[in-house]
Amino acid sequence: MSSPTTTRDSFHSRLGFILAAAGSAIGLGNIWGFPTQAANNGGGAFLFVYLIVTILLAVPALYAEVYIGNQAQKNPVSALMQACGHRFKKTGRNAGIIGLVGAMMMLSFYTIVAGWMLAHALSALFELFGIIDIANWLSTSSTLRNIIFTPIFIVLGAFIIHQGVHAGIERWSGRLMPVLLLMLIGLVIYILQQDGAQEGVALYLIPDFNQVLEPKLIISAMGQAFFSLSIGVGGMMVYGSYMKKGQDIGKLVLSIAALDTFIAFLAGLLIIPALFVAQHAGQEVFSEGNLIGEGQLIFQILPSLFASMGSVGLIVSFSFFTLLSIAALTSTISSTEVPVSYLVEDRNINRKHATWLVSAMVLIASMILIAFFDLLFGLVIQLLTTILQPLMSLFYFIVVGWVWQRGNQLTDIAQLQQDRKLKAFGFYLRYFCPILLIIVFINVAF
Ligand code: ALA
Repeated sequence: MSSPTTTRDSFHSRLGFILAAAGSAIGLGNIWGFPTQAANNGGGAFLFVYLIVTILLAVPALYAEVYIGNQAQKNPVSALMQACGHRFKKTGRNAGIIGLVGAMMMLSFYTIVAGWMLAHALSALFELFGIIDIANWLSTSSTLRNIIFTPIFIVLGAFIIHQGVHAGIERWSGRLMPVLLLMLIGLVIYILQQDGAQEGVALYLIPDFNQVLEPKLIISAMGQAFFSLSIGVGGMMVYGSYMKKGQDIGKLVLSIAALDTFIAFLAGLLIIPALFVAQHAGQEVFSEGNLIGEGQLIFQILPSLFASMGSVGLIVSFSFFTLLSIAALTSTISSTEVPVSYLVEDRNINRKHATWLVSAMVLIASMILIAFFDLLFGLVIQLLTTILQPLMSLFYFIVVGWVWQRGNQLTDIAQLQQDRKLKAFGFYLRYFCPILLIIVFINVAF
């Protein structure tokens, strides 16, 4: 039998990579995380800072992550070890392991929220068939609901992953993204015609420039941008490694970031006006400027929005939450693939066993989060998005800009290829990105 490294699976096309990477990026972060963060952080000011941070830092970080994986054609732990060279091999390995831990942290809360989506989709279905008691139970947050739906979601993800990169990830990723996009556009058009929506649109689109320098807002926007683009936990690195070498990574990364940002923007344009429509209808939505219920409120606002559409609303609700569950699934599989690829390639465990082993570990982690929900849920999200993901990105900048072959890898290649744009980007990544990230951290710490 050949060794796992010689039978390495891969994407069969460039488009396969784009769809899988966009599938990884587009998920709950866009439709649940972004609008919640924007609503809690001044709307337009958040959007403004988010766009700037995405362009200045998140896109280069995504480039660095995909680039490292693509060059190595190995799992994130081995890829970082290779990129760090002989001298810093151990550091690379440790960083790779920290990335694995980050991926597990992400999965631990992500699968819980994804379980909420599944429950809401089923709730609409039960209501459609007149089984109201069960429908109500499914749409009401409870520990029992978490205990049932989180494992269901984890098993769904594992089912796709164990089929492999091409047959599982590439085939499933992105298939339903156009439907999700059309649905979002339709819902935005509907909500904008409701009473109260204009106030939400104004809050969302007109930034209050007094708020844009708030450290809390900047760090939240940065965390959200890194989270949304799935940077810093190795998911994009492993996808980069499944793509053939020699692609224009810059172009690929830009298209993924543009798609991801557009979906987040649309989700904000749906949810923030919807919050104001609900407020207009007498529902209490904000308390002291913050959304009530730690981000769970949109699960009350959206169903009431769907209910206002009459019986067709139930079908819309079912489709919307089903699509969201699928978007969550395509994001989950990239993070699960990080430890799975490591176990398969570096630990010689077969893919099926590795997938179930990782899924079992995620299940344990998410059950711990469910047991100590009030204490851990928000904390894990904050630790991951505002500390671990940006720090890992800083590490990628340093690796690509400084450590790789003890020089700036990108400028060296640009020199060889006489590529002036790449050369400029190499300098940008070497100096500007790490300095900017460090400034943001210092700004927040003091
Ligand atoms: N990038 C994924 C999301 O936005 C994790 O949901």
